[in-house]
Amino acid sequence: MTARILVLPGDGIGPEVTRAALAVLECVISSSGHAITVVDGLIGGAALRAGASPLPRETLALARNADAIFLGAVGDPAYDHLPPGRRPESALLQLRQALGLYANLRPARVWPGLEESGPLKPQVLADTDILVVRELTGGLYYGEPRGLASDGRSAVNTLRYTTDEIARVAHRAFTLSRSRRRHVTSVDKANVLEVSRLWRDTVTAVAADYQDVTLTHEYVDAAAMKLALSPSACDVLVTENLFGDILSDEVGALCGSLGLLPSASLGDGPGLFEPVHGSAPSLAGRNCANPIGAIGSLAMLLEHGLGLPGEARRVVSAVEAVLASGLRTADIADGRTEAVSTTTFTDAVTAAYRRS
Ligand code: IPM
Ligand code: MN
Repeated sequence: MTARILVLPGDGIGPEVTRAALAVLECVISSSGHAITVVDGLIGGAALRAGASPLPRETLALARNADAIFLGAVGDPAYDHLPPGRRPESALLQLRQALGLYANLRPARVWPGLEESGPLKPQVLADTDILVVRELTGGLYYGEPRGLASDGRSAVNTLRYTTDEIARVAHRAFTLSRSRRRHVTSVDKANVLEVSRLWRDTVTAVAADYQDVTLTHEYVDAAAMKLALSPSACDVLVTENLFGDILSDEVGALCGSLGLLPSASLGDGPGLFEPVHGSAPSLAGRNCANPIGAIGSLAMLLEHGLGLPGEARRVVSAVEAVLASGLRTADIADGRTEAVSTTTFTDAVTAAYRRS
């Protein structure tokens, strides 16, 4: 097979973890013989520094023509003073919207050997394996009207969803649950918000097409609590944009570190694959970031973006082998052994991949 991947390293630790993912991709290419080519593009603060807009026109054109897009991270405190629409983060929001990436998949599980890395007791975390399906192109992130009043004394954002927007992401969640434990939890705030009532009714209607899948509804506050109390009870969680943003960080932290979480943003065209952790400015340039989220995102790119599930599994197994050998980056180090750098961990993953 042949494929073209657009790589957008972006800001903060983005370039470092992108290098890690590309090192693993090199191994995949050389051992599989697939003709996968990589092109680079600018995004976020990196684009602003080069004198361009956060999402340069060339980057968007390359994205539309790619088979899949890999993104490191966007976000740079140097541009915190800019209005939302001109900040590095706006590039990601524009890209999601332009490519129609309405379903954001954020899998989180306990990695073997990391049962004690998170804040929960290992017996509480045991068997946790959650897939957050976050609606990604609607809700408060995009609703109009929005803005700060001219007197600076009030501001407005709009929460709006159509039944079509809710139904398409619900279909994705139900379909994905069929290759898992067939349990979907839909998260809303239907006791307060009209949008959430519509969300709940629409998801319930979609569930009729999936008689083999169990559907449960939860209010978002209760869901946040239950995730902390008994994360292993949750299988697929489907929710709107902002709730999904918040709950996926919670789930990441519970499983040991946000640095472990990969993601896939899917629509009807090329998908976007990125670690969930963001640019982490305080870690940037120190070769200490956890590359597992990025390498996991590469695995999701191989599986969902290029249709190579075998290669994806081999990448994940290589990461598991390195964790089993005891190597840990600082965020998941247990204090007994010294933390290793991003590059040392990545070299071990590429070696494990070649051996497998
Ligand atoms: C994420 C991030 C983004 C979001 C930011 C960087 C705009 O936090 O992907 O979770 O809020 O969606
Ligand atoms: Mn987030």
